[in-house]
Amino acid sequence: MATGVSKTKWNGDLQAIVRDNEQLAYRPIWQNGNDENRLYYGDNLTVMNDLLKDGSVRGRIRLIYIDPPYATNSVFQTRKRQDAYTDLLTGEEYVDFMRKRLLLMKELLSIDGSVYVHLDNKMVFHIKVLMDEIFGAGNFRGMITRKKCKSKNFTKNSFGNISDYILFYTKSNNYVWNKQYEQWTDEKILKEYPFIEEATDRRYKRVPIHAPGTRNGETGKMWRGMLPPEGKHWQFTPDKLDELDRNGEIYWSSTGNPRRKVYLDESNGIALQDIWLDYLDINNQNTQTTGYPTEKNIDMLKRIILSSSNKSDLIMDCFAGSGTTLVAADELERNWIGADMGAEAIKVMLNRFQNGTQTLDEHINSRKKTQINKTASHLIGNYTIYANGNYSEGEFNLPILNLLS
Ligand SMILES: C[S@@+](CC[C@H](N)C(=O)[O-])C[C@H]1O[C@@H](n2cnc3c(N)ncnc32)[C@H](O)[C@@H]1O
Repeated sequence: MATGVSKTKWNGDLQAIVRDNEQLAYRPIWQNGNDENRLYYGDNLTVMNDLLKDGSVRGRIRLIYIDPPYATNSVFQTRKRQDAYTDLLTGEEYVDFMRKRLLLMKELLSIDGSVYVHLDNKMVFHIKVLMDEIFGAGNFRGMITRKKCKSKNFTKNSFGNISDYILFYTKSNNYVWNKQYEQWTDEKILKEYPFIEEATDRRYKRVPIHAPGTRNGETGKMWRGMLPPEGKHWQFTPDKLDELDRNGEIYWSSTGNPRRKVYLDESNGIALQDIWLDYLDINNQNTQTTGYPTEKNIDMLKRIILSSSNKSDLIMDCFAGSGTTLVAADELERNWIGADMGAEAIKVMLNRFQNGTQTLDEHINSRKKTQINKTASHLIGNYTIYANGNYSEGEFNLPILNLLS
């Protein structure tokens, strides 16, 4: 988990960051034929305004994930202590910054598209209200609470803060949704499916055959001499219950209480809930990382991408940072558009596309050999960079890289 250096303690050169970013005012330099993958180097407000003029993009982005600054009033540095980006807008200014950008995102989204906004507890409620206004409260699909780091020795007189949040909205009621499941663990299987059917050896659990609410139709009628319990109805019609019983799918207790058997081998897994505990950003020294501060867990991004897009869909992250969303999208065979206004972010992304990530341990002992991540390296030549300067295909010795090195 990255913690910024508070503005009051930071003694870097703010003007230098601003100067860098001014130099990098967005201008497209190269487009690779039909290839939709693009990396923009500039303020996403300008980038998105420009994308709106592009008929192949406007209204066609299926999924936007953003992880913007969180209004921490800090400066974030890489593991090698390079200033990466500033997070100095707070209060009204911050909300205004987000409003301008969320409005453009809505226009860029396809009618069945989704947007995920990752924030912490500082601004999540302000931005929830803003997104209700922009996307419509009816299009709020949920708020994921993510465990971002291990428990820590919290020095404030409060509860340890180990969560952040992802707001999930869609543009309409009709949106791409691929239900995601977690795999069963042995421990959970034993707890949830404790029985084994003698005849078949199949593992199963026993569930009630009734559900809350009275019904006047078939499911409210007598079955095998029994009415549903008070205030309840049968989950199936008496005919269907007979069929289940004939197939051996009803378990009868010694006191004559029927329960339905639900088999483990018919389960897709555990439907994903809105508390995510498995996607900590940096777990241990072996975690693969770019060294960029606030780099997100790539498996978390894959979950989001799998849930809200299909293969070949166009995905955008216009606060791309170290490019986690872009690499996840690429690995899942989606097309992508990325943007970042930070020189360090662009440098890190290009390095990630070219060389992959390193373990945290290697970042600490940075003289160790870089590990090439095969999946990332196939990205070479498969994306377009837009920025100042000229581009020559197949080469990474771009003017912008010279500028950055
Ligand atoms: C929290 S980081 C994103 C980290 C990213 N999710 C990752 O996994 O590495 C926020 C990023 O937004 C970028 N940023 C901030 N304001 C921006 C703007 N107006 N336009 C484009 N990028 C911006 C910063 O340079 C920074 O890299």
